[in-house]
Amino acid sequence: MTSLLLEPGARLQGELRVPGDKSISHRAVMLGALADSPTRVEGFLRGADALHTLAAFAKMGVPTSWQQDGVLLIDGVGIEGLRASDTPLDLGNAGTAMRLMTGLLAGQSFASDLTGDESLNARPMRRVADPLREMGAAIRLQSDGTPPVHIEPVERLTALHYTLPVASAQVKSALLLAALYAQGETVIREPAPTRDHTERMLRAFGYQVADTEAGKTLRGGSRLTGQIIQVPADISSAAFFLVAASIAGHADVVLRDVGINPTRDGVLAILRLMGADIDVFNKRTWGAEPVADLRVRNAKLHGVDIPRALVPLAIDEFPALLVAAACASGVTRLTGAAELRVKESDRIGAMADALQALGASAEPHADGMIVHGGSLCGGQVQSRGDHRIGMAMAVAATVAAGPVTIADSDNIATSYPGFVEQAATVGMRVQEVA
Ligand code: S3P
Repeated sequence: MTSLLLEPGARLQGELRVPGDKSISHRAVMLGALADSPTRVEGFLRGADALHTLAAFAKMGVPTSWQQDGVLLIDGVGIEGLRASDTPLDLGNAGTAMRLMTGLLAGQSFASDLTGDESLNARPMRRVADPLREMGAAIRLQSDGTPPVHIEPVERLTALHYTLPVASAQVKSALLLAALYAQGETVIREPAPTRDHTERMLRAFGYQVADTEAGKTLRGGSRLTGQIIQVPADISSAAFFLVAASIAGHADVVLRDVGINPTRDGVLAILRLMGADIDVFNKRTWGAEPVADLRVRNAKLHGVDIPRALVPLAIDEFPALLVAAACASGVTRLTGAAELRVKESDRIGAMADALQALGASAEPHADGMIVHGGSLCGGQVQSRGDHRIGMAMAVAATVAAGPVTIADSDNIATSYPGFVEQAATVGMRVQEVA
């Protein structure tokens, strides 16, 4: 198991292009696989999570290849063209792959088995299995509702009208992907807006998804046309540098080509409420997704009550945002974020423990945390095998008074391969230790 060792005294300066968006990379493989013609993906995230999705579709008979310039080619087999894998599909740490593929595979004419690592195999799956069963799917989980997932073929799925009990893009997307195979019109209503990459990409592939009063509406039975997809840099990875540069002394960092989809940009709004100095410039559109360059300079952050409406729009950024809170003046209150308990780790518990280990006042609650800002000391923290906890604590370490060791950091590569090298180029004093 690899640990990270960080020395204090970072001066964050320079320019970075963080790796491709994880959510968009997963979806590019899935829709590319189902299209009637080839798809070309530029800037695909070569992190373990997205590579697990790619390998899973290869096992289901989808030809994929890499061009010399790093472009991924997916030779779509058509909406009915997947075939059974002869072994279970191992999705590693990737919750998005597991949930979306459960939906996509529920309507196939063959059986599938989906499994993952220890963390993924402990994550809740009833949230997708229950509504899929209402569509007629035959899905078996473990008795506690976790993976492995077994899917049996059924004659036909039927369309569903469904209101999501939790604001979850993974559940919404699983149902939209199942609805491609369902008879009739599926309508999905969300309790709050969540990332809409699936809807945007389906439309880009020529599939109609309407946004109506009643919800997201899609009729089964149409087809997908292969596309050229340019994957933006992942705002969830950029978030670590937005926070690091905000809390560091004399920082000035530019982040290129960052996806600023309005269903993902809650981190910008929350940091700005805290007093951060972030410029969004060079705005443009890449296919279905808005992109911009971000310039962030150090600022005096202050604590805030995080508006609940922003929580789903920044759901993956709370490890980094809680570090910002620990370094701000005053109190930050996060509520309405119980979903953080069931991510790659229990992120409320993991962040409270890690911040406390560096001397911060972090009080965990069932659905959030109260953080009293102050200064951080050096020490040892656990990432609990969660990529975002590891990177968030690396950010905390840049302003700690002494060295910080972050144990169990290998999974950073699930979303951010090359994090240590890139962080070093803008001045983080970080190295991997065995
Ligand atoms: C994702 C949705 C979110 C997010 C995850 C990626 C997606 O999960 O936390 O990292 O790509 O759809 P939930 O839908 O469970 O909130």
